[in-house]
Amino acid sequence: MCGIVGYTGHRQAAPLLVEGLKHLEYRGYDSAGVALIADGRIDIFKTAGKIAALEKELAGAHPTGRTGIAHTRWATHGVPNTINAHPHTDCGGTLALVHNGIIENAGVLRAALSRRGHTFRSETDTEVLAHLIEELHSKGDGRPLVESVAGALVQIEGTYGIAVVSTREPDTIVAARRGSPLLVAIGNEENFVASDASAVLAHTRSVVYIDDGEIAVVRPRDYRILDVGAVEKHKAVTHLEWDLGTIERGGYAHFMLKEIMEQPNSLRDTLRGRLLEEEGTARFGGLNLTDEDLLKIRRIVITGCGTSWHAGLIGEYMMEELARIPTEVEYASEFRYRNPIVDDHTLVIGISQSGETADTLAALREAKRRGARTLGLINVVGSSIAREVEGGIYLHAGPEIGVASTKAFTSQIVALAMLTLKLGRLRSLSILQGREVVRALARLPELVERVLQNAAAVEHIAERLLRAGNVLYLGRGYNFPVALEGALKLKEISYIHAEGYPAAEMKHGPIALIDDLMPVVFVAPRDAVYQKIVSNIEEVKARGGRVIAVVTEGDTGLAKLADQRIEVPETLDLLTPVLTVLPLQLLAYYIAVRRGCNVDQPRNLAKSVTVE
Ligand code: AGP
Repeated sequence: MCGIVGYTGHRQAAPLLVEGLKHLEYRGYDSAGVALIADGRIDIFKTAGKIAALEKELAGAHPTGRTGIAHTRWATHGVPNTINAHPHTDCGGTLALVHNGIIENAGVLRAALSRRGHTFRSETDTEVLAHLIEELHSKGDGRPLVESVAGALVQIEGTYGIAVVSTREPDTIVAARRGSPLLVAIGNEENFVASDASAVLAHTRSVVYIDDGEIAVVRPRDYRILDVGAVEKHKAVTHLEWDLGTIERGGYAHFMLKEIMEQPNSLRDTLRGRLLEEEGTARFGGLNLTDEDLLKIRRIVITGCGTSWHAGLIGEYMMEELARIPTEVEYASEFRYRNPIVDDHTLVIGISQSGETADTLAALREAKRRGARTLGLINVVGSSIAREVEGGIYLHAGPEIGVASTKAFTSQIVALAMLTLKLGRLRSLSILQGREVVRALARLPELVERVLQNAAAVEHIAERLLRAGNVLYLGRGYNFPVALEGALKLKEISYIHAEGYPAAEMKHGPIALIDDLMPVVFVAPRDAVYQKIVSNIEEVKARGGRVIAVVTEGDTGLAKLADQRIEVPETLDLLTPVLTVLPLQLLAYYIAVRRGCNVDQPRNLAKSVTVE
């Protein structure tokens, strides 16, 4: 969950590397560092904390060097401090390396290397790799850097995205991946390596994605991609759609607020060119599964983590209600290790905004290994999961920088609704039902606009929850997962403990928590289970609970019952989550801002979780 970037070319590397790191900071921000090659030596600069500290240190040092690598860290092994910050070097300071991933057999290797006289400076797993490369590159028969890196990599277990430099090949960066994202970005007389495109978009839009087991040798005027057998591979150059502007804050105080307010447009982009009103269905360009293939599907397993898992729960309700296909939702981290029962009549759908979440990637690989058909609902184009599955649906929601996922969630729900339409219309869903869903989907962006125009009302309610110690979120049917999502948003950015529950579950325990100090947020639109949730609200009121309710516009009934209410427009039951989640995103945002929390980079979290 770290970010790495490297540069080799005609310009001074340090400012380019720092700028690249800033765009990767959402991946981890415990410490940062750079290694620069200049005049036959490696200069290393490392600081604990945010990249701003590193930038300040570099400003004072005026370093030179036209080749360098850099890293922003999310600690897994070794506490966040300057010593454990990357880059790490070998004993002689001949080479330096940055790493994103986990070396699972680092302990064993470290002991063996120590016995062979190597001196370790840090507690990290990563430093082991620097000494392994040293054994082949700087000691012994002094092999070329790429061969030494390859020789070292075969000895380690675990995941990596790495970049390595050496004083013996001063304008060369060797980069390699297994499990962690990495790309080469091609410039004019200069080249970059990076964990993702956001670090290089200011300089180029031409990138080559590195796959598992591949090694890249990058120099100012050329680059080579080799496979595990050191055979050269000719890989396609991808031209990126996103421009720098889309990943800047665009005048908003935080990326999270920008991304919440972007949802009318991100939803339009997710829907664009996919709705077929006449046929009452949807079409996708990259599904890579024929209608015949889809008709053979007898069971669906949706898998993902965090917010993506919540979207999966809504997809389950949709698939079973409209497509009539038995559907289960699995935490990816559990699915991959529990000997799952899948076969070639099972469709395993992996949902992931980043497309890099290690557990979801591994769950899909396990499903494939067992013969299941696989699809990905992914936002980041060209990401590892997108390249692992048979086919998929890109969300086209644009880059999501804020660690708390918002616009990706609503786009995931809409993409699942369109996939449900496609699968349902191939089965028993009538053309009239299909058309009704298509029309409701097409109207969603303007309804979302209406809810967001009412943000001030949510801000007012947020003021009253600032000092809450705990909050309960309750919903039913399609809005039970929304209650889970609302609680997750509040937890991850304001650090207030919150729990989401199916409202009827209250009576089986949690209702004991209710008193006048426990705010309860009900997600209660006028849907098929409306009457049931009204009774649940009455149960909470009867015990003195404070009720905030998300209700359908004009719902005067609940107006009397709830202490505060937030109105959302009416839509079809299966699409209500796209509207009811918006006030919950805003509520968490305003509370966190008022509590002085770092909304875009909450403590202990990172945007894409690329380790187990
Ligand atoms: C959500 O706000 C969190 N950032 C987190 O739970 C996230 O949803 C989870 O890590 C999955 O990420 P993905 O969608 O990129 O796979």
